[in-house]
Amino acid sequence: MEGIGITVTEHLLMHQKASPAATGRFTSLLTELIFSAKIIAREVQKAGLVDILGLTGEVNVQGEQVRKLDEFANRVLIYRMQRAGVLCAMASEENADIIEIPDRYPGGDYILVFDPLDGSSNIDVNVSIGTIFSIYRRKESGRAYVALDDFLRKGSEQVAAGYFLYGTSVMLVYTTGDGVHGFTLDPSVGEFLLSHPNIRIPERGKTYSVNEAYTPYWDERTRAVVDYFKSPDNDLGKPYTARYVGSLVADFHRNLLNGGIFMYPADRRDPAKPRGKLRLLCEAAPLAFVVEHAGGAATDGRTRILDIQAAALHERVPLFIGSRADVERATALLQGG
Ligand code: AHG
Ligand code: MN
Ligand code: MN
Ligand code: MN
Repeated sequence: MEGIGITVTEHLLMHQKASPAATGRFTSLLTELIFSAKIIAREVQKAGLVDILGLTGEVNVQGEQVRKLDEFANRVLIYRMQRAGVLCAMASEENADIIEIPDRYPGGDYILVFDPLDGSSNIDVNVSIGTIFSIYRRKESGRAYVALDDFLRKGSEQVAAGYFLYGTSVMLVYTTGDGVHGFTLDPSVGEFLLSHPNIRIPERGKTYSVNEAYTPYWDERTRAVVDYFKSPDNDLGKPYTARYVGSLVADFHRNLLNGGIFMYPADRRDPAKPRGKLRLLCEAAPLAFVVEHAGGAATDGRTRILDIQAAALHERVPLFIGSRADVERATALLQGG
Protein backbone atom coordinates (compact mmCIF):
# COMPACT_ATOMS: atom_id res chain seq x y z
CA MET A 1 0.00 0.00 0.00
CA GLU A 2 1.09 3.55 -0.77
CA GLY A 3 1.55 6.03 2.05
CA ILE A 4 1.65 5.22 5.71
CA GLY A 5 -1.49 3.11 6.20
CA ILE A 6 -4.66 3.70 8.20
CA THR A 7 -4.24 6.06 11.13
CA VAL A 8 -6.23 5.55 14.30
CA THR A 9 -8.05 8.81 13.55
CA GLU A 10 -9.17 7.51 10.14
CA HIS A 11 -10.19 4.23 11.74
CA LEU A 12 -12.24 6.06 14.36
CA LEU A 13 -13.94 8.23 11.74
CA MET A 14 -14.77 5.18 9.60
CA HIS A 15 -16.45 3.58 12.62
CA GLN A 16 -18.22 6.80 13.49
CA LYS A 17 -19.71 6.99 9.98
CA ALA A 18 -20.85 3.35 10.20
CA SER A 19 -22.89 4.10 13.31
CA PRO A 20 -25.80 6.48 12.62
CA ALA A 21 -26.24 7.30 16.33
CA ALA A 22 -22.65 8.43 16.67
CA THR A 23 -22.23 12.10 17.52
CA GLY A 24 -18.47 12.31 17.30
CA ARG A 25 -18.14 12.70 21.07
CA PHE A 26 -16.73 9.21 21.51
CA THR A 27 -14.21 10.00 18.77
CA SER A 28 -13.24 13.15 20.70
CA LEU A 29 -12.82 11.10 23.88
CA LEU A 30 -10.51 8.60 22.20
CA THR A 31 -8.58 11.35 20.43
CA GLU A 32 -7.90 13.09 23.73
CA LEU A 33 -6.93 9.82 25.40
CA ILE A 34 -4.51 9.12 22.56
CA PHE A 35 -2.93 12.54 22.91
CA SER A 36 -2.51 12.01 26.67
CA ALA A 37 -0.85 8.65 26.02
CA LYS A 38 1.58 10.24 23.53
CA ILE A 39 2.65 12.69 26.22
CA ILE A 40 3.08 9.85 28.72
CA ALA A 41 5.03 7.82 26.15
CA ARG A 42 7.33 10.77 25.46
CA GLU A 43 8.10 11.07 29.16
CA VAL A 44 8.56 7.30 29.60
CA GLN A 45 11.11 7.36 26.79
CA LYS A 46 13.08 10.08 28.55
CA ALA A 47 13.08 8.19 31.87
CA GLY A 48 16.66 8.00 33.06
CA LEU A 49 17.58 11.27 31.33
CA VAL A 50 15.35 13.58 33.33
CA ASP A 51 14.45 13.46 37.00
CA ILE A 52 11.42 11.24 36.60
CA LEU A 53 12.50 7.93 38.11
CA GLY A 54 11.94 6.93 41.72
CA LEU A 55 9.32 7.52 44.35
CA THR A 56 7.33 10.62 45.20
CA GLY A 57 7.25 9.70 48.89
CA GLU A 58 3.45 9.36 48.80
CA VAL A 59 1.43 6.20 49.46
CA ASN A 60 -1.73 5.84 47.35
CA VAL A 61 -5.19 4.55 48.22
CA GLN A 62 -3.99 1.05 47.27
CA GLY A 63 -1.35 1.17 50.01
CA GLU A 64 1.42 1.36 47.37
CA GLN A 65 4.41 3.69 47.10
CA VAL A 66 3.69 6.16 44.32
CA ARG A 67 6.38 6.62 41.66
CA LYS A 68 6.99 9.91 39.92
CA LEU A 69 5.83 8.47 36.60
CA ASP A 70 2.63 7.11 38.21
CA GLU A 71 1.89 10.62 39.36
CA PHE A 72 2.90 12.25 36.07
CA ALA A 73 0.69 9.93 34.02
CA ASN A 74 -2.20 10.45 36.42
CA ARG A 75 -1.85 14.23 36.24
CA VAL A 76 -1.68 14.28 32.44
CA LEU A 77 -4.80 12.14 32.10
CA ILE A 78 -6.80 14.13 34.66
CA TYR A 79 -5.72 17.49 33.23
CA ARG A 80 -6.51 16.66 29.61
CA MET A 81 -9.61 14.54 30.13
CA GLN A 82 -11.24 17.10 32.45
CA ARG A 83 -11.01 19.62 29.61
CA ALA A 84 -12.14 17.26 26.84
CA GLY A 85 -15.84 18.17 27.15
CA VAL A 86 -17.03 14.56 26.86
CA LEU A 87 -16.87 13.21 30.42
CA CYS A 88 -19.08 13.59 33.46
CA ALA A 89 -16.55 12.04 35.85
CA MET A 90 -13.46 9.84 36.10
CA ALA A 91 -11.86 7.39 38.49
CA SER A 92 -8.19 6.46 38.71
CA GLU A 93 -6.22 3.75 40.48
CA GLU A 94 -4.30 6.59 42.15
CA ASN A 95 -7.26 8.58 43.53
CA ALA A 96 -9.36 7.45 46.50
CA ASP A 97 -12.52 9.14 45.23
CA ILE A 98 -14.32 9.95 42.03
CA ILE A 99 -12.66 12.76 40.04
CA GLU A 100 -15.24 15.35 39.08
CA ILE A 101 -15.30 17.66 36.08
CA PRO A 102 -15.20 21.26 37.36
CA ASP A 103 -18.16 23.42 36.30
CA ARG A 104 -15.91 25.70 34.27
CA TYR A 105 -15.35 22.91 31.72
CA PRO A 106 -18.03 21.50 29.42
CA GLY A 107 -19.31 18.07 30.41
CA GLY A 108 -20.55 14.97 28.65
CA ASP A 109 -22.16 11.62 29.31
CA TYR A 110 -19.11 9.37 29.37
CA ILE A 111 -17.36 7.97 32.42
CA LEU A 112 -13.67 7.09 32.26
CA VAL A 113 -11.85 4.73 34.63
CA PHE A 114 -8.10 4.27 34.26
CA ASP A 115 -4.91 2.80 35.59
CA PRO A 116 -2.58 5.67 34.56
CA LEU A 117 0.59 3.59 34.70
CA ASP A 118 0.44 -0.15 35.05
CA GLY A 119 3.57 -2.02 36.08
CA SER A 120 5.01 0.33 38.71
CA SER A 121 7.75 -2.09 39.71
CA ASN A 122 9.07 -2.00 36.13
CA ILE A 123 9.17 1.76 35.63
CA ASP A 124 12.71 2.31 36.88
CA VAL A 125 14.23 -0.71 35.14
CA ASN A 126 13.20 -0.09 31.52
CA VAL A 127 10.67 -2.92 31.27
CA SER A 128 7.34 -2.47 29.45
CA ILE A 129 4.58 -0.59 31.25
CA GLY A 130 1.15 0.62 30.17
CA THR A 131 -2.04 2.62 30.66
CA ILE A 132 -5.40 0.82 30.94
CA PHE A 133 -8.74 2.52 30.25
CA SER A 134 -12.40 1.67 30.60
CA ILE A 135 -15.32 3.72 29.29
CA TYR A 136 -18.97 3.68 30.37
CA ARG A 137 -21.91 5.91 29.63
CA ARG A 138 -23.54 7.51 32.68
CA LYS A 139 -26.76 5.90 33.83
CA GLU A 140 -29.06 8.91 33.45
CA SER A 141 -28.19 11.59 30.98
CA GLY A 142 -28.68 15.17 32.08
CA ARG A 143 -28.60 14.56 35.82
CA ALA A 144 -26.64 17.33 37.50
CA TYR A 145 -24.39 15.14 39.62
CA VAL A 146 -22.56 11.86 39.16
CA ALA A 147 -23.10 9.25 41.81
CA LEU A 148 -20.87 6.41 42.90
CA ASP A 149 -23.31 3.94 41.41
CA ASP A 150 -22.49 5.36 37.97
CA PHE A 151 -19.13 3.62 38.51
CA LEU A 152 -20.28 0.51 40.36
CA ARG A 153 -21.37 -1.32 37.25
CA LYS A 154 -20.86 -4.64 35.56
CA GLY A 155 -17.96 -4.72 33.12
CA SER A 156 -20.38 -5.91 30.44
CA GLU A 157 -21.82 -2.35 30.43
CA GLN A 158 -18.55 -0.86 29.17
CA VAL A 159 -18.88 0.88 25.80
CA ALA A 160 -15.15 0.63 25.12
CA ALA A 161 -11.94 -0.49 26.79
CA GLY A 162 -8.29 -0.90 25.97
CA TYR A 163 -4.73 -0.07 26.82
CA PHE A 164 -1.58 1.67 25.71
CA LEU A 165 1.59 -0.37 25.96
CA TYR A 166 4.89 1.47 26.32
CA GLY A 167 7.11 -1.35 25.11
CA THR A 168 9.69 -1.81 22.39
CA SER A 169 7.15 0.20 20.45
CA VAL A 170 4.15 2.11 21.74
CA MET A 171 0.85 0.40 20.99
CA LEU A 172 -2.84 1.11 21.43
CA VAL A 173 -5.19 -1.87 21.61
CA TYR A 174 -8.90 -1.20 22.04
CA THR A 175 -12.39 -2.37 21.31
CA THR A 176 -15.80 -0.74 21.17
CA GLY A 177 -17.37 -4.18 20.89
CA ASP A 178 -16.72 -4.37 17.16
CA GLY A 179 -13.47 -6.33 17.03
CA VAL A 180 -10.22 -5.71 18.88
CA HIS A 181 -7.79 -3.54 16.96
CA GLY A 182 -4.12 -2.80 17.57
CA PHE A 183 -2.26 0.33 16.45
CA THR A 184 1.46 1.03 16.63
CA LEU A 185 2.86 4.51 17.09
CA ASP A 186 5.08 5.56 14.20
CA PRO A 187 7.34 8.00 16.05
CA SER A 188 8.50 9.66 12.84
CA VAL A 189 5.00 10.97 12.08
CA GLY A 190 3.55 10.83 15.60
CA GLU A 191 0.53 8.76 14.53
CA PHE A 192 -0.84 5.42 15.65
CA LEU A 193 -1.18 3.21 12.55
CA LEU A 194 -3.39 0.15 12.26
CA SER A 195 -0.95 -2.75 12.64
CA HIS A 196 -3.11 -5.51 14.18
CA PRO A 197 -6.66 -5.43 12.75
CA ASN A 198 -9.22 -7.83 14.25
CA ILE A 199 -7.05 -9.50 16.87
CA ARG A 200 -8.21 -13.04 17.80
CA ILE A 201 -6.61 -14.80 20.75
CA PRO A 202 -5.70 -18.45 20.04
CA GLU A 203 -8.24 -20.91 21.49
CA ARG A 204 -5.49 -22.56 23.59
CA GLY A 205 -2.08 -21.13 24.43
CA LYS A 206 1.31 -22.49 25.34
CA THR A 207 2.17 -19.91 28.00
CA TYR A 208 1.11 -19.40 31.61
CA SER A 209 1.83 -16.20 33.53
CA VAL A 210 1.63 -16.06 37.30
CA ASN A 211 3.81 -14.90 40.19
CA GLU A 212 4.69 -18.39 41.36
CA ALA A 213 6.64 -17.11 44.37
CA TYR A 214 3.28 -16.87 46.13
CA THR A 215 2.65 -20.64 45.92
CA PRO A 216 2.90 -21.04 49.74
CA TYR A 217 -0.01 -18.60 50.11
CA TRP A 218 -2.33 -20.29 47.60
CA ASP A 219 -5.05 -22.79 48.39
CA GLU A 220 -4.92 -26.37 47.08
CA ARG A 221 -7.10 -25.68 44.06
CA THR A 222 -5.01 -22.74 42.90
CA ARG A 223 -1.92 -24.93 43.16
CA ALA A 224 -3.71 -27.60 41.13
CA VAL A 225 -4.33 -25.05 38.36
CA VAL A 226 -0.68 -24.07 38.08
CA ASP A 227 0.39 -27.73 38.35
CA TYR A 228 -1.91 -28.51 35.43
CA PHE A 229 -0.17 -25.98 33.17
CA LYS A 230 3.23 -27.41 34.17
CA SER A 231 2.25 -31.02 33.66
CA PRO A 232 3.40 -33.02 30.61
CA ASP A 233 -0.02 -34.74 30.80
CA ASN A 234 -2.15 -31.63 30.28
CA ASP A 235 -4.32 -31.06 27.19
CA LEU A 236 -1.33 -29.56 25.37
CA GLY A 237 0.64 -32.77 26.03
CA LYS A 238 3.64 -30.88 27.43
CA PRO A 239 4.35 -28.26 30.09
CA TYR A 240 3.40 -24.73 29.16
CA THR A 241 6.19 -22.20 29.16
CA ALA A 242 6.29 -19.63 31.99
CA ARG A 243 6.40 -15.90 31.22
CA TYR A 244 5.81 -13.24 33.86
CA VAL A 245 6.89 -9.67 33.23
CA GLY A 246 5.08 -8.22 36.25
CA SER A 247 3.29 -5.55 34.21
CA LEU A 248 -0.24 -6.76 33.68
CA VAL A 249 -0.55 -4.95 30.35
CA ALA A 250 2.63 -6.51 28.97
CA ASP A 251 1.77 -10.01 30.18
CA PHE A 252 -1.78 -9.65 28.89
CA HIS A 253 -0.69 -8.31 25.50
CA ARG A 254 1.76 -11.15 24.87
CA ASN A 255 -0.89 -13.73 25.72
CA LEU A 256 -3.50 -11.91 23.61
CA LEU A 257 -1.31 -12.20 20.52
CA ASN A 258 0.31 -15.59 21.15
CA GLY A 259 -2.28 -17.33 23.35
CA GLY A 260 -1.98 -18.26 26.99
CA ILE A 261 -3.34 -17.52 30.42
CA PHE A 262 -2.50 -14.81 32.95
CA MET A 263 -3.39 -15.49 36.58
CA TYR A 264 -3.37 -13.36 39.71
CA PRO A 265 -5.18 -15.60 42.19
CA ALA A 266 -6.39 -14.76 45.68
CA ASP A 267 -3.76 -15.59 48.31
CA ARG A 268 -3.25 -15.54 52.07
CA ARG A 269 -0.34 -13.08 52.13
CA ASP A 270 -2.22 -10.05 53.35
CA PRO A 271 -5.49 -10.51 55.26
CA ALA A 272 -6.50 -7.04 54.06
CA LYS A 273 -6.42 -8.27 50.46
CA PRO A 274 -8.18 -11.64 50.50
CA ARG A 275 -9.17 -11.26 46.82
CA GLY A 276 -5.74 -10.84 45.31
CA LYS A 277 -4.15 -7.63 44.13
CA LEU A 278 -5.67 -6.54 40.86
CA ARG A 279 -8.44 -3.97 40.72
CA LEU A 280 -11.79 -4.89 39.17
CA LEU A 281 -12.68 -1.53 37.62
CA CYS A 282 -9.37 -0.22 36.31
CA GLU A 283 -7.56 -3.48 35.48
CA ALA A 284 -9.66 -6.68 35.33
CA ALA A 285 -12.88 -5.39 33.72
CA PRO A 286 -11.28 -3.47 30.81
CA LEU A 287 -8.93 -6.33 29.92
CA ALA A 288 -11.82 -8.82 30.25
CA PHE A 289 -13.80 -6.69 27.78
CA VAL A 290 -10.87 -6.76 25.36
CA VAL A 291 -10.17 -10.48 25.72
CA GLU A 292 -13.81 -11.51 25.26
CA HIS A 293 -14.09 -9.45 22.09
CA ALA A 294 -10.97 -11.23 20.85
CA GLY A 295 -12.54 -14.65 21.54
CA GLY A 296 -10.98 -15.30 24.95
CA ALA A 297 -12.33 -15.45 28.49
CA ALA A 298 -11.83 -13.96 31.96
CA THR A 299 -13.07 -15.16 35.34
CA ASP A 300 -12.42 -14.74 39.06
CA GLY A 301 -12.61 -18.54 39.30
CA ARG A 302 -16.35 -18.61 39.81
CA THR A 303 -17.90 -15.71 37.96
CA ARG A 304 -17.24 -14.20 34.55
CA ILE A 305 -15.38 -10.95 35.27
CA LEU A 306 -17.79 -8.93 33.09
CA ASP A 307 -20.75 -10.17 35.19
CA ILE A 308 -19.31 -8.98 38.50
CA GLN A 309 -21.15 -5.99 39.88
CA ALA A 310 -18.57 -3.74 41.52
CA ALA A 311 -19.32 -2.91 45.16
CA ALA A 312 -16.51 -0.38 45.70
CA LEU A 313 -14.36 1.83 43.50
CA HIS A 314 -11.11 0.04 44.36
CA GLU A 315 -12.49 -3.47 44.77
CA ARG A 316 -9.94 -6.22 44.08
CA VAL A 317 -10.61 -9.44 42.27
CA PRO A 318 -8.78 -12.71 41.51
CA LEU A 319 -8.08 -12.83 37.79
CA PHE A 320 -7.73 -15.71 35.32
CA ILE A 321 -7.67 -14.29 31.80
CA GLY A 322 -6.64 -15.37 28.32
CA SER A 323 -7.26 -18.19 25.85
CA ARG A 324 -10.73 -19.71 26.22
CA ALA A 325 -9.70 -23.36 26.64
CA ASP A 326 -7.05 -22.46 29.22
CA VAL A 327 -9.41 -20.27 31.26
CA GLU A 328 -12.10 -22.97 31.14
CA ARG A 329 -9.62 -25.56 32.39
CA ALA A 330 -8.49 -23.28 35.22
CA THR A 331 -12.11 -22.59 36.18
CA ALA A 332 -12.94 -26.31 36.31
CA LEU A 333 -9.93 -27.01 38.56
CA LEU A 334 -10.74 -24.05 40.81
CA GLN A 335 -14.20 -25.52 41.26
CA GLY A 336 -12.72 -28.89 42.23
CA GLY A 337 -13.16 -30.52 38.81
P1 AHG B 1 0.20 -1.06 39.17
O1 AHG B 1 1.61 -0.80 38.78
O2 AHG B 1 -0.79 -0.34 38.30
O3 AHG B 1 -0.05 -0.85 40.65
O4 AHG B 1 -0.13 -2.58 38.86
C1 AHG B 1 0.80 -3.54 39.26
C2 AHG B 1 0.19 -4.89 39.07
C3 AHG B 1 0.22 -5.45 37.67
O5 AHG B 1 0.71 -4.63 36.68
C4 AHG B 1 1.09 -6.68 37.78
O6 AHG B 1 0.53 -7.70 37.04
C5 AHG B 1 1.10 -6.98 39.23
O7 AHG B 1 0.92 -5.77 39.89
C6 AHG B 1 2.37 -7.61 39.70
O8 AHG B 1 2.25 -7.91 41.03
P2 AHG B 1 3.32 -8.87 41.79
O9 AHG B 1 4.58 -8.09 41.88
O10 AHG B 1 2.67 -9.15 43.11
O11 AHG B 1 3.46 -10.11 40.96
MN1 MN C 1 -0.20 0.91 41.65
MN1 MN D 1 -1.97 -1.80 37.30
MN1 MN E 1 -0.94 1.76 38.10
